[in-house]
Amino acid sequence: MRAMQNVYRRIRTPFLQLVFSFAVVIAAQAATEMPDGKRLYAPCVVCHQPNAWGSSDGIIPNLAGQKERYLAKQIESFRSGARVGTAMRLVSIHSTFSDPQNVSALAGYLSALDINPKPVTGAGEHLRLGQEMYTHLCAGCHGFDGQGGAEARVPRIAEQHYPYLRRQIEDVALLHRNVTATEMATVLGNMRAPEKDALADYVSRLDKSEALLDLNPRDGGKKLRGPSSP
Ligand code: HEC
Ligand code: HEC
Repeated sequence: MRAMQNVYRRIRTPFLQLVFSFAVVIAAQAATEMPDGKRLYAPCVVCHQPNAWGSSDGIIPNLAGQKERYLAKQIESFRSGARVGTAMRLVSIHSTFSDPQNVSALAGYLSALDINPKPVTGAGEHLRLGQEMYTHLCAGCHGFDGQGGAEARVPRIAEQHYPYLRRQIEDVALLHRNVTATEMATVLGNMRAPEKDALADYVSRLDKSEALLDLNPRDGGKKLRGPSSP
């Protein structure tokens, strides 16, 4: 009996060593084989385009150059249903995105892409009103240049497409329910359609707006009352 055990032990030890060394090789490969963001982006190209600049009509948003953490959070929100979006829910429920490593690899890939320099903009009316509203209500978090917050929780909104922004601004109170004072939601709730147009238009032009609006002369936008005026 003892002899049998010794034989077994002699066979088992090298066998286990072999199995163990294989496991290490596989683990090491897994560790170096980072999920490939570009590959993960392939199913998104049909709507967001290969450069991630969104659709040419501006309905589907630009993703290129967006904050990594914000992108990851949105994919997770669409997946959980916390953010409603039929197309995005269908894409994000794929099992690939149950792995947070894949989500962050994809978000990292997108955030490193060059942003669309020519977003779809609005009619260009009342940009000064848009600027006033933006400066008072939004710049504190999104930055005067619309680049978003340093800690990456606040998204970049500069040079996003006007049609997408206009739609988002319609829901801005809902969008910000966890982040802002109710005061902002109230102001936005009372904002009229042309004011929302002006705000979204101004944001879509941010980065270029300094050249667009020289700060001295008054433009026609004064015809509309800003939300903070008495
Ligand atoms: C069938 C078209 C379609 C496909 C495919 C698609 N998207 Fe989208 N995506 C949309 C639309 C439409 C919106 C805007 C939803 C809204 O209005 O809230 C959107 C919004 C987003 C947003 C939110 C952007 C923001 O600024 O908040 C992210 C992030 C996103 N998509 C990532 C992806 C990724 C990653 C993939 C691929 C895995 C993908 N999308 C595939 C249509 C699509
Ligand atoms: C207190 C800080 C704060 C203020 C003030 C604020 N935002 Fe935001 N905003 C955020 C945060 C944080 C998010 C991301 C929410 C999330 O993670 O879902 C966001 C998201 C957005 C988005 C969605 C971006 C996208 O790509 O879909 C838009 C558009 C937006 N804000 C516009 C505005 C506008 C316009 C104003 C002014 C009227 C404003 N925000 C004021 C913090 C703020």
